[in-house]
Order: sequence, then structure tokens, then C-alpha cells
Amino acid sequence: MNFPYHLTGLRDIEFKYLEEIFELTKYFKKLIVEKKTIKEELRSRSVINLFFENSTRTLTSFELSEKMMGMNTVNFTSSGSSISKGESLLDTIKNIDAMKFDYTVVRHSTPGIPLLLQKFSGSKIINAGDGKNEHPTQGLLDIYTLKEIYGDIKGLNVCIVGDISHSRVALSNIYGLKKYDVNVSVCGPVSFIPGNIEGLGVNVYNDLEEAVKKNDVLNVLRVQLERDAGNLIPSLNEYNKHYGLNERVLKSNKKIRILHPGPMNINVEIDYNTSVSDNAYIFQQVTNGLAVKCAVFKLMNDNKN
Ligand code: CP
Repeated sequence: MNFPYHLTGLRDIEFKYLEEIFELTKYFKKLIVEKKTIKEELRSRSVINLFFENSTRTLTSFELSEKMMGMNTVNFTSSGSSISKGESLLDTIKNIDAMKFDYTVVRHSTPGIPLLLQKFSGSKIINAGDGKNEHPTQGLLDIYTLKEIYGDIKGLNVCIVGDISHSRVALSNIYGLKKYDVNVSVCGPVSFIPGNIEGLGVNVYNDLEEAVKKNDVLNVLRVQLERDAGNLIPSLNEYNKHYGLNERVLKSNKKIRILHPGPMNINVEIDYNTSVSDNAYIFQQVTNGLAVKCAVFKLMNDNKN
């Protein structure tokens, strides 16, 4: 079996392909950090970044990685498109497919759109976040960051804190980390924890102080107000009182490491001092995201199926 033709999630990807991605990520990260030129392995390949939701990190790092790999890159954002003139999503997809892109990177608020694209597009699809389903390149960069910190991550205790019920980052992390035998847990108010989450083999904390004491890593998520998460908590202030990371909450575990996929809402899920502390790896995650994307493109390109 070759590397997957599409990358729609981490749920079904085989462990050996995760290892291949991370080995290549290490290679590209070194080139990026040393500001060395990357051999333009994908010269003449075309890619469209099809973003129906806003993005800073994902769109920018996809575009930069594509350019570093020598690809012809086009960015599409729905707000500047003919969707505003009434064109449907399906017609948009079919028209873009007629331009014969080799790759489509897609972000959309509806779970499953990458699968729809597989049906109506001839290009290789990369999911850059589909609603509250998956965000595989985020999961990959989070896992790679942990491997950089710890080397072997088997048996590590990682707790994902926050608005789990609306989070594609949580699911991709859970699927990926479980393949490495990481002890994954989630923490948040009952209203933010999906009822079936324990079926994925994760433990649940409702008390942040307990989660801090019992874990090596906290991966902190924001409250997704654009998905009506505000209706599930009394207020952001109240949420911050119980689930906001700050020096006081973290004092029981000085060694705890903090990840955050961004965007951060400072003084809601994390305070500024914690976000820039030595315990936080948030900007290292962003650099790793660039290297991960170079690795994914290289491996997908090598698949000639
Ligand atoms: N982590 C992440 O997906 O950030 P953006 O929404 O800025 O792309």
C-alpha cells in the first residue's frame, strides 16, 4: 500500500505513514530553521487553497510550504468569490475542478466536505479543517511537537482542555495520539464534553486542577464562539475562572508543557504570561506546521496511484 492518495483525517491513517511524515518533517524543519533552500520537488504541480472559513496559521503555512516546494499556488476565499453572487458550493467545486489542479487544500465549516470533494474533484484532497470533524495537519504538527520535546511519547499523559465538543483539533489529536499509545484525556465543563468521548479511549476531567496534577501536557483549545459555544457556558468570564490557565492553576505541576493550536483568546482559556512562558511551545508548533506540510506534499506527490 502507498501513502494515502488524500489526507482527510488521522482516524484511518496507518501508523507507518505517521512515522514517514515525522521523519520527513524533521528533514524539512532543519532546512527551514537553517534558512536553506528546499529542492523544489513539486515544480509544475498546481494547488488551490480553498478556504471557506478564516485562517491565519493554516492558510499562510500551506501557501508558504507550497511555494517552498515549487508549486503553483492559488488562494480562494469564499468572501471574494462568486458564492456571494449565489453560486452553489457544488458548482464552485466543479468549476475549480475544471481548472485541473493537482491538489486541493480545503477548509469548510461543514464536516465531510473533503469527502464531497473527493467525489467531484480529480485532485488530491488535503483537509485543512472540516467543521468539528478533523484538522489532520494540526494533529500532525501537535504530535510532532511532542516527539521533538520528549522523543518517545508512548505512555505520555496528554490532556486536551476546553471546548472539545466543537473541536476538530481535539479529534485529530485523539486519533493520532492513540496510535502512539499516549494516555489521552479531555478536560472542560460537562457541556463542552461530547457524551460519547470515552468510547474513543479517553478519560474525562471536569476539574482543571486535577488535570494539571495528573498530566504531562495540556493542549489548550479556545471557546469556539462561531459555533455557538457561548450558549453552553454562563459567560467567558465564568469559563476563565474555572478553566483558564494561569500561574496559580499551574503551580502544582511546574514541569507541565502547554500546547495551543491558535488562535488564542487571551484571558479566556489562557493568560498572556502563561502563553509566553518556558512551559509553552505555541510558536514552535507553528514552525513545525510549516515543516509538516512540506512533508505531507512530498509524500502525497510520491504516491503515483
Ligand atoms: N490552528 C489553526 O487552524 O489556526 P488558523 O485557524 O489560524 O488556521
